[in-house]
Amino acid sequence: MRLIPVENLSEEDAAKELEHLSELIAHHDTLYYLKDNPEISDAEYDELRLRNSAIEERFPHLIRDDSPSLRVGAPLIGPFKKVQHRKPMLSLDNGFEDQDIFDFIERIRRFLNVSRETIIEIVAEPKIDGLSATLDYQMGHFALGATRGDGNEGEDITANLRTLKDIPRLIEASDFPKATEIRGEVYMRHEDFMAMNEERNAKGEAIFANPRNAAAGSVRQLDPRVTAKRPLKFFAYSCDDYSSFQVQTHWEFLEKLKEWGFVVNPLARLCKSAEELLAFYHELEAERATLPYDIDGIVYKVNRLDWQSRMGFSTRAPRWAIAHKFPAQKAQTRLNDIFIQVGRTGALTPVAALEPVTVGGVVVSRASLHNEDEIARKDVRVGDTVVIQRAGDVIPQIVSVVLEKRPADSQPFEFPHVCPVCGSHAIRLEGEVARKCIGGLVCSAQAALRLRHFVSRDAFDIEGFGSKHVDAFYKEGLVKYPQDIFTLEARDSRSLTPLRVREGWGPLSAQNLFKAISDRREISLHRFIYSLGIPQVGQATAKLLARHYVSYLSWKEAMILAKDQNSQAFSDLMSIDGIGPSVTEDLVAFFDEPHNLDVLEALLKEIQVLDEVLPDIGSSPFANKTIVFTGSLQHMTRSEAKVKAESLGAKVSSSVSAKTDYVVIGEDPGSKAKAAKELGVTILGEEEWLKMLV
Ligand code: IVH
Repeated sequence: MRLIPVENLSEEDAAKELEHLSELIAHHDTLYYLKDNPEISDAEYDELRLRNSAIEERFPHLIRDDSPSLRVGAPLIGPFKKVQHRKPMLSLDNGFEDQDIFDFIERIRRFLNVSRETIIEIVAEPKIDGLSATLDYQMGHFALGATRGDGNEGEDITANLRTLKDIPRLIEASDFPKATEIRGEVYMRHEDFMAMNEERNAKGEAIFANPRNAAAGSVRQLDPRVTAKRPLKFFAYSCDDYSSFQVQTHWEFLEKLKEWGFVVNPLARLCKSAEELLAFYHELEAERATLPYDIDGIVYKVNRLDWQSRMGFSTRAPRWAIAHKFPAQKAQTRLNDIFIQVGRTGALTPVAALEPVTVGGVVVSRASLHNEDEIARKDVRVGDTVVIQRAGDVIPQIVSVVLEKRPADSQPFEFPHVCPVCGSHAIRLEGEVARKCIGGLVCSAQAALRLRHFVSRDAFDIEGFGSKHVDAFYKEGLVKYPQDIFTLEARDSRSLTPLRVREGWGPLSAQNLFKAISDRREISLHRFIYSLGIPQVGQATAKLLARHYVSYLSWKEAMILAKDQNSQAFSDLMSIDGIGPSVTEDLVAFFDEPHNLDVLEALLKEIQVLDEVLPDIGSSPFANKTIVFTGSLQHMTRSEAKVKAESLGAKVSSSVSAKTDYVVIGEDPGSKAKAAKELGVTILGEEEWLKMLV
């Protein structure tokens, strides 16, 4: 599928795509984290996430409650029940400039047809940067709590919300409606957030990027006991339907909420003009850095409820309210150094080490530089003074360089071409933003994950050797490279602390593991190829390669020779139907890395890779023949034809060469038919091909 560039996306398309990406990424997270059985490469996975972030960056108001960027670590796959909201949970229109607020007031006047003299009271409330939730009360009992979800349907997080002290469990006041929904924001205070992150960090757990993520992650925990330990708070500010309350204004509603035991933001203010609103806005903007929680603007709401109901709603937001957003918080500081981090996919990420500076009340000493192009585009250099901005995140962004302050002797940053962790080459493939370390088998930044893949079900399938063991063995230095798995037993027998005496192990379980490992000293070629975790080489590609090359040695030789693009090996590899230039590049890169070849050599001393057994092809005329299909076939699709040919022992190729045995031509065949004629390859019409099948 060809993707529309993010800058050309319409809002509607963006919303649709974000929804799709959220589902897709959640699906792959489940496969990866919970089933240990990913079906796409890490690079493809990263692409999805990058695309999602790019769209969110352009359309921040479309960021979904279930956005992948709000999920941290293991996926939040909720068996959370879906809940239909009785009244939709809407969003708010945004204003940025003072003029937007004057316009807002003007619109209200026009809509209500009231004179300039009429005072329009507006309640101004801080816009809390958390996540919204709705609380359903039945006969005073907190009966059901839900996330906003898509606005119409959220998720049932009642058990988790019950753990919040700010949410009353029972309201006995006689004027509290028998059935109502109270709405508001779940959030986390800065100091609680930081303490929690420190604790997580100490335990080696992933830290949350900002209080909003932390709140969102905490509220969607599967175990409410976990939520109970998280310092979550709640501000109430709205309801599903004012008509069941005996109040005339929003301000009175807030007063009532307080009486009933809800926490209402104490900074809310009743204003009588646009000027008053703006004064309040600038006051809070100045105070923002010292507030104990994140706010990203002020929400203005028409106070009179009869006016609110006259104005009503547009499709996504009430006409009687607007969110006046704050600009991002900025500061200047010196960039002391640029260092490179290596992620689990091998991607090299540059990070700026900054002279610590306070931005929006938080001391910042690091900023993300994203990737090589970003550094080049902004021409960020060590020693530069840079403008940084925090948009709610712990890791801020570098906005620009203050060129006037650049030291005379500064040099452009040279992005390393070797991995800082393992010393392997770091290369950048066409069309990819990240430079990647290709020492997949040796790089400790990637190793434990690669090892997990190596032993996984569709690869070596070593029973009882799960992720937990891989990680533990890797940490202890017992298994660093794939070959170490097969020398484990011999080393263990000489060890002073053999496995059987270790915690969590006994003689039997240790013996079982060693047996499971030695059962796998023989492996089929396609499993072996897949096990290596070469980028883009999933199971399907591994099978194509195995069937084409049949033996490990001929595969390996061919991959080494294919580095030369003029070689026979290169065109042979490219001719395999289903193998394109990008996979070819990854394969060649893998075999071009001496570290990887060392591992292969060591590994092959321990195991035997069996020749690929081709399907039983009997007396098929296509056994071991190379076929090319061209033009459109009438009786079957191209994919069907391909599967059929392969089941009869043929190799299906995408280009015609002297090695091709048959070219099957359909309608409008094009250049391949011509090439076949020139090379004297046997040409079959569709009918002939069909006849040969029976
Ligand atoms: S009122 C129908 N009041 O902002 C109007 N929203 O951009 C409902 N928010 O989804 C919203 N503080 O999560 C309202 N004092 C406040 C708020 C607030 C934060 C959030 C809320 C909403 C989002 C809209």
